[in-house]
Amino acid sequence: MDISPLITKDLLEFLKGHYQLNWNGLHGFQHWIRVRENGLRLAVLNGANLKVVEYFAFTHDIQRHSDGFDPGHGARACRFIRSHLLDYLDLSNDEINQLCIATSGHTNGKCHPDITISTCWDADRLDLMRARIRPNPKLLCTPEARDPHIIEWAIQRSIATS
Ligand SMILES: [Fe+2]
Repeated sequence: MDISPLITKDLLEFLKGHYQLNWNGLHGFQHWIRVRENGLRLAVLNGANLKVVEYFAFTHDIQRHSDGFDPGHGARACRFIRSHLLDYLDLSNDEINQLCIATSGHTNGKCHPDITISTCWDADRLDLMRARIRPNPKLLCTPEARDPHIIEWAIQRSIATS
């Protein structure tokens, strides 16, 4: 089943075939679903690129080798996008570059001046409650993500579906 017009059944099957960890685990499919929803909710408020945000959700953890400390997985995700996913992605070259910066940098805990990239990172951080870590507003990049209502909404979904 397609998740959306962008996250098609074909893309999802391809990603599943390349994901090395537990599909139902900490960084697996349900996490990607929630990051997508978090990101889209933020993006309609702040104008971030919806397509990049959606693809980020489904690619940022695709090259994890471990559910624990794995600082290289963002850079590997970017390389994987460029080597394996270009035919699946409905993105311009500029958007591919944006997606690659977002995936590469999402492991370093920073913010980025590009609203789309910071929205991707916030979407991921808003799902920390699945690991019993409350999202810290001081560590979120966008005002939309720091909204207590959004944080609480994300926390409840992390708890309910992980
Ligand atoms: Fe993630």
